[in-house]
Order: sequence, then C-alpha cells, then structure tokens
Amino acid sequence: MTTKTRAHDVNDLGLAQLGGRRIVWAAREMPVLSRIRGRLAKEKPFRGLRIGACLHVTAETANLMLALRDGGADVALCASNPLSTQDDVAASLVADERIATFARKGEDRDTYYSHINAVLATEPEITMDDGADLVTELHTKRRELLPKVRGGTEETTTGVNRLRAMAGEGILAYPIIAVNDALTKHLFDNRYGTGQSAVDGIIRATNLLIAGKTAAVAGYGWVGRGIAARLRGMGAITLVTEIDPLRALEAAMDGFEVTTIAEAAARSDLLVTATGNVNVIGREALANLRDGAILANAGHFNDEIDLAWLASQATGCRELRPFVNEYRLPSGRTAVVLADGRLVNLAAAEGHPPAVMDMSFANQALAVEHLIREGKALEKAVYAVPRELDEGIARLKLEAMGMRIDAMTDEQKAYASSWKAGT
Ligand code: ADE
Repeated sequence: MTTKTRAHDVNDLGLAQLGGRRIVWAAREMPVLSRIRGRLAKEKPFRGLRIGACLHVTAETANLMLALRDGGADVALCASNPLSTQDDVAASLVADERIATFARKGEDRDTYYSHINAVLATEPEITMDDGADLVTELHTKRRELLPKVRGGTEETTTGVNRLRAMAGEGILAYPIIAVNDALTKHLFDNRYGTGQSAVDGIIRATNLLIAGKTAAVAGYGWVGRGIAARLRGMGAITLVTEIDPLRALEAAMDGFEVTTIAEAAARSDLLVTATGNVNVIGREALANLRDGAILANAGHFNDEIDLAWLASQATGCRELRPFVNEYRLPSGRTAVVLADGRLVNLAAAEGHPPAVMDMSFANQALAVEHLIREGKALEKAVYAVPRELDEGIARLKLEAMGMRIDAMTDEQKAYASSWKAGT
C-alpha cells in the first residue's frame, strides 16, 4: 500500500493500463449508466457517503464504481467471488481511479473474507452486495458497525433469498433494496446475460462444439431459461430438469425435454446447473455420468455439484486446461469439472456483457439514490426497486437502442381503467 493510492490488495498494479482500456470499452455499451453517471456528477447526491461494495470486480462493475464516485461517494470494493475478479480492472481502479479495491483472482477463502473485512473497515453507510456475504459478515461478526449503516442493495437471486430469510428471522438490521427483483434486472441480466456468458465460459474453457451434443440444464428460472435457449440455439439437444411443476411445464411447452437429474446425468455430454440449491448434481447423478461428461455451474455458489464426494471417490484428478479438471472414477470413467464448480461465466469468461449490466447497474445507482432519499421511512426489510425507476431505466435503454414506443391515447386510458364497456 502506498500513500498515493487508496488502501488496496490486488494481484498486479502493472495491469492497470489494460484494465483502464477495458473499462472504457465496456462503457460504450453502458449508455444508461453513463447518462446516470453524468447527472450524478453534476448533482453530487452522494457527497461524502461511504459505500462498501462486494461485487464481481469486472469492467462493468468498475463503471458503476466510477458513477458512484462521481456522484460524490467514497467507495470501497471487494470481490463477491474468489474467481471472478478481473485483475487488470482491479489494478486500474486502484492505480488510475484511486478507488480502494480488495480483490485478487484466485484468492483463497481467508483472503476473500479479509477483503470483505477491509471494506467493512471503511465503516460503510450503504452496503452493495452480490450474494449477501458482506451483509452476512456484518450481521454476524462486525455487529458494532451496524448502527452506521443506512441501507443496502442486493444484486442477485441467491443474495435476495438469504436476505429475505434474515428478514423473516427478524435479524436484518437495515432496509435493503432487491435490485435483482427489478424487471430491468432479472429479465435481461439473468436470462440474456447468463444465457450468453455461461455458454461463453464453457466454450472458452473447453473449445467444445455445442452442435449435436446432448446438454442438460438444471433449473428453469430466468438463468436456466437463458442457458437452455442459447444451448438449443447452438444446436444442442437440450434437456431441462426442475423441481417446480409450473416451471417444468413451461420448459416442456417451450419445447425442451423435461426429465430427472438422474436420467439427464446418464444421457448428457454437458450438464449446467442454475438452481441456487446444493448438491443438485449429487452422488447418484455423479455415479451415473457418461464417460467424459462436462459439468459446469452458473448458480451463485459452488455447491450445486457435490465436488467433495467426487473428489473423495476419484482415483485421480488432473488439470487439462485452465479451468478444466478431469476426475478419474473407479469405474474407469471420467468427469470433467469446469472452474471448480464456481460461476463458469465469470471464472472462465468475462461475466455478462456490458449491455445487460448497463440496466442492472443503473438499478444499483438509482437504488442508492432512493435509499438516501427515502431510507428513514423504510423498515428493516427487503424492498423492491420502485416501479417508476424500473420503467425509467427501460425507457432510457430503448432510447439508447434507437427504439420508440407508443403511448395510450386518452380514449385508451379511459377504456383500460373502466369496467363498463363489454360485449
Ligand atoms: N455478474 C454477472 N456478470 C457480471 C459482470 N460482467 N459484472 C459484474 N457482475 C456480474
């Protein structure tokens, strides 16, 4: 740590120039956030506000940090996953932008938590989380800091589920806005962002030809829907597994074959988990895999594949390429695990493209603004992004894409809100 830069812990400051160029490149596809950044820079609504962020440290996140910083905030950032950090971006944030950044790609668990604690040490007034690890650490180990926190935001489905559980048990200590639940977030980021970037990660790691393969997607939430659609679009015979009958039915009527994980395991060349639950590819499925089957995870945590059991059974494990480990089983068959079962899109590729993170992070910036305006009136609960902010982001995105929409006439408005007109 030097006096010129802010406190930091990154892998290689020498990568800053490359990172800086990638941040600018991403900004070209983030017109909504850029516009919000311009306004924040003028109005400075966050003057002096300490924001502690635990997000994937990517070029897109860097653009969010710059928007918050230009709005007057004092920002500290750490990684929300040990494998998702883009070291060049982390370096540029420290060296070029003087943003306190704590993130090293490949960091171990202790370092991961020491980085979260480095952000907490800045005594944030607003927390910004992706998966709720920062909030959990704050509520369990750093409770003395809670009175300083005014509110928080949460980026992802898993994080929102954890926070709702905390609120349900009455232990959530401040209001949190579930950015994930905004329509301009999950309909686009979860579906099109993960759909593309998970397949991108699988291909970058393996150079696999998708066409003609049998691929299974576990989970048909927005993420699973996106991945299944993209795999099918590239020519895979695509199976879907579900536990929810309505989602399963939807998958079936979307034209996918719905089956159990046991059968999918026995038939698939590629299996991708996107459920947010544990041991989805569990012992039985692992024992029945086709020889050479490739396993990848697109859910938030690395516990969707029972890797502990796989490792305990394996007679050997070797790295075939970066992010590609082959386990040899006593049966003589092999199973190939990508990115140690961590988010394949962020570990083996670059995460979602900036064009979708544009909307997700526009929601983040506006959610912080909403919190500082309305925070005092909010309970210790999980809140949605206000509908007008969500719609405003959709309008700005459409405008940036050069698309126009119609407005209801007065006659149509009256008709739509009346019960009188019938057959
Ligand atoms: N989550 C998924 N993709 C991401 C990205 N590119 N940046 C930050 N968070 C992400």
